[in-house]
Amino acid sequence: MSGNKNIQKFRGEVSREDRENIHGHRAAVFWFTGLSGSGKSTIAHAVEKELFDDLMRVYVFDGDNVRHGLCADLSFAPTARTENIRRISEVAKLFVENSTVCLCAFISPLLSDRQMAREIIGDNDFYEIFVTCPLEVCEERDVKGFYKMAREGKIKNYTGISAPYEAPENPDLIVETDKETLEESVTRVKEFILQKVKI
Ligand SMILES: Nc1ncnc2c1ncn2[C@@H]1O[C@H](COP(=O)(O)OP(=O)(O)OP(=O)(O)O)[C@@H](O)[C@H]1O
Ligand SMILES: [Mg+2]
Repeated sequence: MSGNKNIQKFRGEVSREDRENIHGHRAAVFWFTGLSGSGKSTIAHAVEKELFDDLMRVYVFDGDNVRHGLCADLSFAPTARTENIRRISEVAKLFVENSTVCLCAFISPLLSDRQMAREIIGDNDFYEIFVTCPLEVCEERDVKGFYKMAREGKIKNYTGISAPYEAPENPDLIVETDKETLEESVTRVKEFILQKVKI
């Protein structure tokens, strides 16, 4: 969507850089992708808490939460999933302008959708974190009980069961949650973020 050519952007007096300097860190989007139950939300929220306690501006965009509001009208069909990612990317881009470290925790199973997110947000501000865990382990965890329902055919288009998951080809960070403890994963992700947002 290209937007209306007759609408010009108003340039405010406060730049992104001004805001980042006040807060003492850069802003960027850290995009967590992985199967349901791989650990995206658990890690993102734990990292958010630690960075917040260090007085950083940080916010988690979580799949489950945005689908209650911003994307409440969207299904899990492929075109709706793409629109879901597009809207989140546009909002995260605004948060980056507002100097916020954005942790986006979405299954986002398609390479093309994540590429779109990268293009909307901008290559310099986008880092992909692959939260990986074998399907069998995610299914065993079955945090929400949805894998069971998907196996029974009660949920359609379920990633890993009846819809594809395309693993990142060149992620910026890989977190293997079947091999690491939660604390190890959180520390690794936090350190990665701190290194990328330091001024
Ligand atoms: N190293 C780890 N990192 C993260 N989670 C872990 C780890 N080890 C075990 N777990 C457990 O795995 C589960 C991950 O569930 P979580 O809701 O975070 O997944 P999700 O990727 O956000 O799934 P969904 O896409 O459905 O929202 C939790 O029960 C968590 O305690
Ligand atoms: Mg989640």
